[in-house]
Amino acid sequence: MKQLQDRVAIVTGASNGLGRAIAEAFAAEGAKVVLAARRKDALEEVAAGIAKAGGTALVVPTDVTKEAEVVALFAKTKDAFGRLDILVNNAGVPSSTPTEEMTLEFWQSVIDVNLTAVFLCSREAIKIMKGQGGGRIINMGSISARTPRPNSAGYTTTKFAVEGLTRALTFDGRQYGVVASMIHPGSTATGFVQGRPAGPGKTPQEYVMSPHDVARIAVLMCALPPEVNLFEATILPNHQPSFIGRG
Ligand SMILES: NC(=O)c1ccc[n+]([C@@H]2O[C@H](COP(=O)([O-])OP(=O)(O)OC[C@H]3O[C@@H](n4cnc5c(N)ncnc54)[C@H](OP(=O)(O)O)[C@@H]3O)[C@@H](O)[C@H]2O)c1
Repeated sequence: MKQLQDRVAIVTGASNGLGRAIAEAFAAEGAKVVLAARRKDALEEVAAGIAKAGGTALVVPTDVTKEAEVVALFAKTKDAFGRLDILVNNAGVPSSTPTEEMTLEFWQSVIDVNLTAVFLCSREAIKIMKGQGGGRIINMGSISARTPRPNSAGYTTTKFAVEGLTRALTFDGRQYGVVASMIHPGSTATGFVQGRPAGPGKTPQEYVMSPHDVARIAVLMCALPPEVNLFEATILPNHQPSFIGRG
């Protein structure tokens, strides 16, 4: 028996990077995955790979900052599979702008994707999950939810805020069997670290994780008994600079 056999999972940001790896790992463990992101072609490529490997994937192009599109994503999932067991709020954008140069529009755009969309998707997920006796929500954090990088006020703020939201979701979710948790990755080879392949660099500090390393944590969180919550997992390259200790 596979670890997530017949569970239904929505993964946002499934067109690339961590979301893609998590969707593929869930499907390999028997889950029916709903792939959400804006780029339809990229989602269809992921879905084709999952189908080729014997899995089930549904493509639902979605901009997670648009309320109507989020509502439609959850309605289509319910129509297709009748339930929702897992939501992974993974879609995210970086920000690398000095605070004094950041426009309000840019700030708001980062908040919209990294924070407000997590609320919107969680709201729609809970509506389904509370009627079926529970489910799991995994929110993608970052080691930036612990230690900011330079010029990351927008990004860092959202990742700290998502931790507060995760705590509130799992506290309020107890009455419905809804369990929320977070993954805090360090440097991972995705669109966020453009051009850097997974694995060693010139120095130990340049090692970049594979998104598949992180996906294993998501599978573990969902495979635990419903009464058990692996609330937070920080996964990072062992030599990740400026995190565990100071230079
Ligand atoms: N890579 C790292 O080192 C690292 C470290 C810590 C945390 N993280 C977190 O991991 C998560 C995934 O990022 P990644 O590293 O995998 O980066 P990525 O390769 O750039 O992927 C980002 C994903 O988010 C989607 N997305 C962006 N805006 C969206 C929107 N408005 N609506 C729907 N989907 C949207 C993108 O799809 P479309 O363009 O198709 O919409 C894409 O699939 C983020 O939350 C990020 O903060 C990454």
